[in-house]
Amino acid sequence: MSLNDSPTRYGSLTRLLHWSMALLLVWQFLSALSHYAFEDTAFETFFWPTHKPLGLVLMVLLVIRLGWALINLARRPPSLSLAAKWGHLSLYGLLFIIPALALLRQYGSGRAFNPFGIELMAGFQGDKITWMIEPANLLHGVLGWVLLVMIIGHVGMALLHRKQPGQLNVLPRMWGKG
Ligand code: HEM
Ligand code: HEM
Repeated sequence: MSLNDSPTRYGSLTRLLHWSMALLLVWQFLSALSHYAFEDTAFETFFWPTHKPLGLVLMVLLVIRLGWALINLARRPPSLSLAAKWGHLSLYGLLFIIPALALLRQYGSGRAFNPFGIELMAGFQGDKITWMIEPANLLHGVLGWVLLVMIIGHVGMALLHRKQPGQLNVLPRMWGKG
């Protein structure tokens, strides 16, 4: 299988990024759910501490994925419709903005952030930086749940296209032999 995308199918690196992020996002939403609905339970104790470090990993993977998508822009499979095109672009946009806002808030809070033992933010004494904190307070959680709804829609559409007569089955572009 080719590393690069082609007009009929996504290549191995695009597929690896798509499916590894899909799996990690399942974990990320379990951790969000644990915080939202299961405070002070073993479920939260297990999942919630992974939320920030995994969110950072997702952000790094997304940046790699966007770079790779740009490199392959001219040769990847064409969008099925304008709705699919904008749907995919919105998924990318949310996958960027959600962790970006949270990381900005993390910095502005003045608290140290040492994911996987790496000192990414040393923290500082003194007042929190309000303009860095407020956007995430307002939007991080809400946009996170919007992303979940859009992912459910995305999976639904991918499966629906398979079933409907006259529609192109796009699954083989991303899974199995294209
Ligand atoms: C869990 C999180 C998921 C996210 C964030 C996600 C995101 C995306 C994005 C952004 C694209 C567009 C790729 C591009 O052209 O640049 C895409 C394509 C695709 N995804 Fe997903 N996806 C997820 C899960 C799934 C699942 C579970 C399925 C299987 C049912 C799936 C099936 C597909 C297919 C078939 C394509 C190719 C669509 C086409 O070329 O028209 N995705 N996905
Ligand atoms: C793609 C990555 C991410 C997704 C999908 C995501 C999703 C979510 C969701 C849905 C919630 C709401 C949970 C609730 O309502 O209780 C949430 C909360 C939270 N997230 Fe994330 N998150 C991501 C990355 C991050 C990162 C990188 C950080 C920190 C560095 C972070 C820190 C937090 C914190 C502190 C909360 C609780 C406060 C709040 O609701 O804003 N998240 N996240």
